[in-house]
Amino acid sequence: MESALFQLAGRTALITGGGSGLGRAISIGFAQAGARVAVADICIQNAVETATIIKTQGGEAFAERLDVTRRSEVETLINKLLQRWGSLDILVNSAGRAIRGTALDYKEEDWATIIGVNLTGTFFCCQAAGRQMAAQRRGKIINLASIGGFIAYPGSIAYLASKGGVVQLTKGFAVELAPYNVQVNAIAPSLFDTPMVVSTRSDAESLQYFMDRTPAGRKGRPEEIIGAAIFLAADCSSMVTGHTLAVDGGYLSA
Ligand SMILES: NC(=O)c1ccc[n+]([C@@H]2O[C@H](COP(=O)([O-])OP(=O)(O)OC[C@H]3O[C@@H](n4cnc5c(N)ncnc54)[C@H](O)[C@@H]3O)[C@@H](O)[C@H]2O)c1
Repeated sequence: MESALFQLAGRTALITGGGSGLGRAISIGFAQAGARVAVADICIQNAVETATIIKTQGGEAFAERLDVTRRSEVETLINKLLQRWGSLDILVNSAGRAIRGTALDYKEEDWATIIGVNLTGTFFCCQAAGRQMAAQRRGKIINLASIGGFIAYPGSIAYLASKGGVVQLTKGFAVELAPYNVQVNAIAPSLFDTPMVVSTRSDAESLQYFMDRTPAGRKGRPEEIIGAAIFLAADCSSMVTGHTLAVDGGYLSA
């Protein structure tokens, strides 16, 4: 008999940034674990592609365009999901951006973009989903932080600040939502092979920098994030909240 602890059967999930990389892997992994998945992304074509993969595999999903920096869009999408499925059980905030630049020259508009998507967008989604989950007296929120929420590396000043913020925002929501049986946690990946990393960290010098500091000696594959996400989304983690789980090949321990 399979344990129900790690099952997502019958659960509904909203995945922001579900059109690419880690968000796509988590969307597909959740659907394979039995969840119905709303795939949201600012790039609708990519969101549709993820939803199509899920449906082809026999799962249930729909795709929607969402800009997480627009609070009204977040609220509209959650209402749409509720009309369709009746409850929102799991939110994964995987929408994110990275723009490289040295701290002393970092452009104000790039700072605003990164903080806007990674931190404020995550806040809008946690708040809107958190209200619904508190009313339901049940829910799971998972934020994509980063090892950069704990340690620093060159060329990413706004990203580091945004992810440090995500680690603390996770704790803040966790303590306020715990009485409502809503658990709020985060995942801190090291370098994973996704379009974001290909576009911002695939130069030889960057790769060398990260691989020298990663005991596992390699990048993660997107599907290697799924286990941690299922753990934080399923009943098995009902007493885990406010935690950021490193999925980093040992980076933060070295
Ligand atoms: N890949 C890594 O090595 C790594 C490491 C640490 C943390 N992370 C975090 O994991 C998350 C996913 O990253 P990824 O590597 O899969 O990147 P990715 O670029 O492959 O996917 C990010 C997705 O977010 C979407 N997005 C961007 N702005 C948006 C907005 N305003 N509204 C809605 N969607 C938006 C993009 O269209 C894209 O589909 C990010 O938060 C990232 O910071 C990634």
